[in-house]
Amino acid sequence: MGYTIAQKIIKNHLVDGQMKVGEEIGLRIDQTLTQDATGTMAYLEFEAMGVERVKTERSVAYIDHNTLQSGFESADDHRFIGSIAKKHGIYFSRPGNGICHQVHLERFGIPGKTLIGSDSHTPTGGGIGMLAFGAGGLDVAVAMGGGAYYITMPKMVRVNLTGKLRPFVAAKDVILEVLRRMSVKGGVSKIIEYGGEGVATLTVPERATITNMGAELGATTSVFPSDEVTKSFLAAQGREENWVPVFADEDAEYDEVIDINLSELVPMAACPHSPDNVKTIDEIGPIKVDQVCIGSCTNSSYLDLMRVAAMLKGKTVHPDVSLAIAPGSKQVFNMIAQNGALADLIAAGARILESACGPCIGMGQSPNSGGISLRTFNRNFEGRSGTKDAGVYLVSPEVAAASALTGVLTDPRTFGDEIKIELPEHFLINDNMVEPPASPEEAKDLQILRGPNIKEFPNADPIAADISADVLLKVGDNITTDHIMPAGAKILPYRSNIPYLSNFCFAVCDEAFPERARKAGKGIIVGGQNYGQGSSREHAALVPLYLGIKAVIAKSFARIHRANLINAGIVPLTFANEADYDKLSLGDAVELTGIRACIENGKPIAAKVNGEDIPLVCELSGRQKDILLSGGLLNYTKESVK
Ligand code: F3S
Repeated sequence: MGYTIAQKIIKNHLVDGQMKVGEEIGLRIDQTLTQDATGTMAYLEFEAMGVERVKTERSVAYIDHNTLQSGFESADDHRFIGSIAKKHGIYFSRPGNGICHQVHLERFGIPGKTLIGSDSHTPTGGGIGMLAFGAGGLDVAVAMGGGAYYITMPKMVRVNLTGKLRPFVAAKDVILEVLRRMSVKGGVSKIIEYGGEGVATLTVPERATITNMGAELGATTSVFPSDEVTKSFLAAQGREENWVPVFADEDAEYDEVIDINLSELVPMAACPHSPDNVKTIDEIGPIKVDQVCIGSCTNSSYLDLMRVAAMLKGKTVHPDVSLAIAPGSKQVFNMIAQNGALADLIAAGARILESACGPCIGMGQSPNSGGISLRTFNRNFEGRSGTKDAGVYLVSPEVAAASALTGVLTDPRTFGDEIKIELPEHFLINDNMVEPPASPEEAKDLQILRGPNIKEFPNADPIAADISADVLLKVGDNITTDHIMPAGAKILPYRSNIPYLSNFCFAVCDEAFPERARKAGKGIIVGGQNYGQGSSREHAALVPLYLGIKAVIAKSFARIHRANLINAGIVPLTFANEADYDKLSLGDAVELTGIRACIENGKPIAAKVNGEDIPLVCELSGRQKDILLSGGLLNYTKESVK
């Protein structure tokens, strides 16, 4: 039997385990990336491991999330990351150089290699045939130290693309269609692999839009083949030598096959407040629009912005609409500045933002109260925009541009003639905002620059023989990491300051939770389905740890968050019978007697609540057991390098 693309790359990087679905495997990691919001913590953890120089082929630290600098904190964090990168062999992409995934695709990604990043949209790298995973900061720290990255061997899904996108139908509509069919849970424990004759009709930035939003499916990752299109893209980036062909074998077998005829797709939008709440623009109708934001790691490529500029050229943004545009990278920004497209955007009335995540992470541009915002981004969870009652629709750049002009949600196919934009033969290459690391010799004398905002991270104790604690919070289904640890302009500067962040933990669900947890000193959280979906932020595990959370009992967990809980030393437990969720209430005393022995020996676990035994499941690999018993990945890694 032949191999899929993902199986081939896994096979080439396998250092532990066997490629059997559902079993844990360890992978050698070639490249890592971090962004600043998760990076400060990842580098503190890397430092704590005591490794002098990264052991990966290429590690890059990006500054893209927290660039508003409304106080000293963010600037201090940038300085800290820059100095630690220089000392330990990491490339440093300075603020202004662009969004991590866009820049990584342009300047660093290599087909056939493995990449992990402390950002959930790292699978963007699958657009050039990398096997790229979103991971916790601690996983990234371990990979930088030469350790393997562990995942559960996923199932393989093939999305078979035929036909060709029609004018004004975009790559965004392809992934929205996949989301419509599979839902935000449909990709869990699966790798989504794209194939078929339609693949050759999509450029690398279009493929990257699709792999980027594979994160919204909950997929382990998504990947495209590396073909002649990939080769031309890398050649245009002056990196043709990085190209290798990567294809699935003809006789590769998939667990699931989805057929999509690109020619049949129409413009769509993900309606509030979930990326899988997808309808066609026609079905939604011409709702009034207050704001349009174009950018983010999903849709801010040269191709995207050139299309938008062509649609806006010579016209004026509707008087009721605020249009904000953030180019994805300095390369994109510079190129549209040089070829005049930026002038067209400005002339039309667009508000140009710096090359960064910006509004995607709630850094400015919050919509008006009750406002309707169309965004080319990847997430539309309630409140993520910074305005709790805003309705965010996720759309293609073409829908965004057409609607910005008309003031209502508009099908861009009504817009006029087809816009033909080709990728350039040569991108503008100027890496002067990427600082290379110091040589090992120079690095010895370098100081790491720390400001007062850099606080130590919390560390768990080895797991106790028994846990007895109260239910301090009970939440429903689809709790996101944004609920657990909100992002947004006001608190993002404190990502390296866990004590301060703890004031906001779960505050959107229950304002009194942080104080209750502090008073109790220890506790348990009860959750519904898909607990911890959304971003990879390990703060969503570290902050509850700081507040004394010992275990989370849920109906099911999102993959990255479950791994982050284990890495933090918090026990993730699922109900053996989902209906037992109803038997637990806020304030109930829970006895997990003999939990350490249960984890150690793989014995069944039951929680005693109100005199009744509630059976629980804690499926762990051998390594995950050891991590939990040690009190988290950092303790475990320290022990294993002793
Ligand atoms: Fe940044 Fe938003 Fe992507 S926060 S990395 S642009 S999902």
